[in-house]
Amino acid sequence: MMDTTVQNIVVEKVKTSKIDQIDFDNLSFGSVFTDHMLVCDYKNGAWEIPKIIPYQPITLDPSAKIFHYGQSIFEGMKAYKDSNNDVWLFRPLDNQKRLNISAKRMAIPELPEEYFMEGLKTLLKLEKKWIPQSEGSSLYIRPFIFASGKGFHASPADEYKFIIACAPSGSYFSGKVKVLIEETYSRSANGGVGFAKAGGNYAGQFYPTQLAVKKGYQQVIWTDDNTHEYIEEAGAMNIFVRINDTLITGPTSDRILDGITRKSIITIAEDEGIPVEIRKITVSEVVEASKKGILKEMFGAGTAAVVSPISGFGHKNMNYDLPELESSYASLLKKRITDIQYNKTEDKFGWRY
Ligand code: COI
Repeated sequence: MMDTTVQNIVVEKVKTSKIDQIDFDNLSFGSVFTDHMLVCDYKNGAWEIPKIIPYQPITLDPSAKIFHYGQSIFEGMKAYKDSNNDVWLFRPLDNQKRLNISAKRMAIPELPEEYFMEGLKTLLKLEKKWIPQSEGSSLYIRPFIFASGKGFHASPADEYKFIIACAPSGSYFSGKVKVLIEETYSRSANGGVGFAKAGGNYAGQFYPTQLAVKKGYQQVIWTDDNTHEYIEEAGAMNIFVRINDTLITGPTSDRILDGITRKSIITIAEDEGIPVEIRKITVSEVVEASKKGILKEMFGAGTAAVVSPISGFGHKNMNYDLPELESSYASLLKKRITDIQYNKTEDKFGWRY
């Protein structure tokens, strides 16, 4: 059996930190990177002990299978710093488990839990100064695995790299989010890879999203591939709809990502006494509710997006605006989840780490 204890992660530190070059008061999302990264190689049928090295480009053979067959998966996480300078993660074991669920589907060897968790903790201890403390900012953490093994044969690679890179980040969206309900393209299908955080799931969305951006929307709301009648998720977040006082979100499936923020929001909403329904939502139901004035809110939920209110949606060349509420579910739920994440409140569900 493989020994998965990680006793001594070798750490090679940078000679000079670049932290002084970063404007922590004006952070965008995921565009500046910390001094170090974690790298762990899969070779000869086993994951090697992770190491931490200065953040740097990677050299790959042009035949590396990531380039040709897209064998790659990732996770999105955040580290939060509280007012005592202590650092917190939010449900990190759920990310670790989901990475391996994605790995299995993409024929990538699963990574031992210890390598993920010990590697992450060692990296974060080293990068503690990079974790922003200001409201709405955090250290976005991107663990990912890709096929580094060589060859044009269309089969799984024999070598992989697991990397964790980190980026001090502000909000994912700047300003209001308008979404277009998709009628032509699909993100995923039954039996496909929609539930996995596979790189290609995101690449496939870029073109339809470009078309939506040209029409003035920021995100596409994906619908089922068969009828385009059921609302599934938006590319960077799961979707919640409030009709009257009921909060509704679609069930997870082969086609929808099992979002950690999504399930946390469901738990918090139920704890608040909000009626929650996890069921299929039809586009016609949302359009009709909007026409009747009972569509109170729509919002997205995700690690990067946190809870992002949607100001309006487009469907079949029509625009539907959502009302601006004084006390919305989105703002209540966002406050409750971020208070837990930033250690501002009791952690009644045991999610902080
Ligand atoms: C995240 O929310 O962390 C994600 O991975 C979504 C990504 C499109 C930013």
